[in-house]
Amino acid sequence: MISLRGISKRYQMGEEEVLALDGVDLDIGRNEYVALVGASGSGKSTLMNLIGCLDTPSSGRYLLNGRDTSTLRDTELAQVRNREIGFVFQSFHLLPRMSVLDNVAQPLVYRGVPRAERRRLAAEALERVGLGNRLGHRPNQLSGGQRQRVAVARALVGRPSLLLADEPTGNLDSRTSAEIMALFDELHHDGQTVLLVTHEPDIAAHCERIVRVSDGRVVEDAPNPGRKRGTH
Ligand SMILES: Nc1ncnc2c1ncn2[C@@H]1O[C@H](COP(=O)(O)OP(=O)(O)OP(=O)(O)O)[C@@H](O)[C@H]1O
Ligand SMILES: [Mg+2]
Repeated sequence: MISLRGISKRYQMGEEEVLALDGVDLDIGRNEYVALVGASGSGKSTLMNLIGCLDTPSSGRYLLNGRDTSTLRDTELAQVRNREIGFVFQSFHLLPRMSVLDNVAQPLVYRGVPRAERRRLAAEALERVGLGNRLGHRPNQLSGGQRQRVAVARALVGRPSLLLADEPTGNLDSRTSAEIMALFDELHHDGQTVLLVTHEPDIAAHCERIVRVSDGRVVEDAPNPGRKRGTH
């Protein structure tokens, strides 16, 4: 589903060049459940953003569902992103003035889905994350864990082939983190492909495969035999 070959990313900072990714090869298949781990500054978010088509590599090849993303124009890349990728971020990124339902329906606006259908699909996604009874709330009327559930529902509403999460439990206490991880476990169990960035071993322990990045390189890539499972 995902195939990266010799992916590098350089940032020019005045005189200095930062090599954030240095020749990454990575394949991820359908329904895998992968944790991307590594020290701060190792390149995890950079890699996640490239996989999510939020950014493009300086060199190398990235195939997403058989499509070479390096040949796509910005508008095409945005379209691929909207259709194929669901994002969850540490800080939720919800729109504060909109209801929970409208937040979740938002990605469908860009696809031209009619309003009634958007609302039906958004309500269904919220039901799936256990928030069917909070449709009219605003984000600031929810707990942190509930806000992250809304973000997960928004990521899922367009049925993306890949769910990407960058430190999804970074702003949550340990009990709420466990609830969110139980939700990811369940989504994976139901067939969703999930890639998440974390620096917490407890979170990575939920995944089936752990990829370690150091100084912009993949230094370890192994199955996780002692997998932890939550119940949602
Ligand atoms: N937009 C940018 N411009 C310049 N340098 C950048 C940019 N984004 C990232 N970098 C550099 O690239 C390297 C990798 O950064 P990245 O954000 O991918 O790390 P990370 O593994 O996600 O770290 P953390 O765990 O702290 O989130 C760092 O040295 C960082 O300073
Ligand atoms: Mg990061």
